[in-house]
Amino acid sequence: KESKDQLVIDAGQKHFGATMCKSCGMIYAASSPEDEMQHVQHHHRFLEGIKYVGWKKERVVAEFWDGKIVLVLPRDPSYALRKVEDVQELVDNELGFQQVVSQCPDKTKTFLFISDEKRVVGCLIAEPIKQAFRVLSEPTGAESLSSKECPRAWQCSNVPVPAVCGISRIWVFRLKRRKRIARRLVDTLRNCFMFGCFLSTDEIAFSDPTPDGKLFATKYCNT
Ligand code: ACO
Ligand code: ZN
Repeated sequence: KESKDQLVIDAGQKHFGATMCKSCGMIYAASSPEDEMQHVQHHHRFLEGIKYVGWKKERVVAEFWDGKIVLVLPRDPSYALRKVEDVQELVDNELGFQQVVSQCPDKTKTFLFISDEKRVVGCLIAEPIKQAFRVLSEPTGAESLSSKECPRAWQCSNVPVPAVCGISRIWVFRLKRRKRIARRLVDTLRNCFMFGCFLSTDEIAFSDPTPDGKLFATKYCNT
């Protein structure tokens, strides 16, 4: 059954037998028993983690043809907070992030994009910040903000600029990328972060962006 779920990702990788699981999105070498075993473990944990059964009290903040966005706040029922924890663990795992302790956990806002298939396919975690550091332009002219001091490769200005909202995590399920899910999460955040106003792109900052995160942020902030 498992093999039906597999597909060869592209000709370039065919030689190495790299396959991507159509359900959990993991890329692995099906020819390697070790990889296969890791996949089976990841597969079940991941699909369990992103399963969304629906909550009696859910805060739907946006609805689309292909899903909806639910906002979870720190004082929500424990079943909601537990789901957020599970999803965050999967995301941190994928990003290779350490467990990051939030600066102000009672002000964290978590947005989950729920697909029609009742799965959490996108997640955005945001918290209030006071300042950010602009990522210095690369030859491409890319520019975005980082709310931390720049532990990754990007060069940041050491002159802080005021900001309002820091995005500490943004993640979209591998098989659902490039469908504007991240864009819709950030649009919704800008609309819901502070009551009664729509935040400008200058007021939001992406902390410690990955290469994917930076490409997205650059595109998002320029359009
Ligand atoms: N490469 C080039 N351009 C990109 C990429 C990319 N990987 N991702 C997004 N963009 C640009 C595109 O221009 C895109 O528009 P288009 O598809 O019409 O060309 C535009 O951004 C909007 O993209 P979305 O479809 O809204 O983005 P998506 O839903 O695919 O999610 C995300 C982007 C969240 C970065 C996703 O790739 C992901 O989860 N990556 C792994 C996790 C990660 O690295 N997250 C960022 C960590 S940094 C942080 O959390 C602060
Ligand atoms: Zn799988």
